Amino acid sequence: MLEALRPYWHPLARTNAIGMAPERHVLLGEALVTWRPAPDAAPVVMKDLCIHRGAPLSGGAVEQETIRCPYHGWRYDSDGACVHIPSLPEGASTPSKARAVRYHARDAYGFLWVSLSEEPSAFPDFLSTVWDDPAYRSVYVARYDWNAAAARVAENAMDFSHFNFVHQGYTELADGPVIKPHEVSRDARGLSYAYDDGHLLREYVLEFPFLVHDRKQVTNPAGGVTWSDGDAARTGDITLLSFLACPVAETTTQIHVLVTRNHALDRDDSDFTSGFDVVMEQDRVIVEAQRPEQVPEDLKEELHLRLPDAASITYRRMLSELGLPAELLP
Ligand code: FES
Ligand SMILES: [Fe+2]
Repeated sequence: MLEALRPYWHPLARTNAIGMAPERHVLLGEALVTWRPAPDAAPVVMKDLCIHRGAPLSGGAVEQETIRCPYHGWRYDSDGACVHIPSLPEGASTPSKARAVRYHARDAYGFLWVSLSEEPSAFPDFLSTVWDDPAYRSVYVARYDWNAAAARVAENAMDFSHFNFVHQGYTELADGPVIKPHEVSRDARGLSYAYDDGHLLREYVLEFPFLVHDRKQVTNPAGGVTWSDGDAARTGDITLLSFLACPVAETTTQIHVLVTRNHALDRDDSDFTSGFDVVMEQDRVIVEAQRPEQVPEDLKEELHLRLPDAASITYRRMLSELGLPAELLP
């Protein structure tokens, strides 16, 4: 499964947390090193491995806009080419095979996104609709590190039928727990569905495989209370919760949470973010304990309810198609 996830763009870290000095990260089970050739240069992402004798480049240093391996001092430029081997005489050329593996990286929405493939998938663009819109304000909440598979994490973020049990007093379906019919659509980006609980219109967008956006629009201010609305909800208020899950390894996931809102922009951001530690902890306890740890590939392996689990059934179909050649896809 990890192999098939390499083309997708994953949020490796917050861009402003990436310094000049080499730093080790793990994505899809592979060790990576980030560094910057200069303080304000774009971050570089490479495999954390020197081709000479396999030392981790993250143990080295940045020198003359290159990264220097800690073992024998070979230096690689930001494209990955080895530009200096100290044990060779002055003027000797470096072998053309002496290269570090450089990966595609992009800075967007405050994150450094990485694809581990020569041919990356389409870039996740859902947040671009609000990111530069002055009517909205986006706030980074926190990163949550869970010992769980990213697909279990994403499925949990999409699943609203657990709200009235796990998140009582925080985010319950106003007319729950019975789940009404709702349409789940697949599209090029992933999947989407909307659900009106009599207080909020909840519009979910999954950017496949692990980015979940939960856009809540107040339709009836008197219909209920959700912690992330603030305490003075008005019709049309939109609060967008983005759960950006980064698959570190098979059962290790980092979840970056971003809250975007078009209301009460003058209020303290913490009014809209302070409940997350509680809500995420309520979810973590459940999701880390789910077995099997991976979402089963075969739909028959767990029991699905047609209406309450509609989004999850579609998501599992998409997961089961991961890595299949295009001619075998529906
Ligand atoms: S292992 Fe990197 S220079 Fe020798
Ligand atoms: Fe939850």
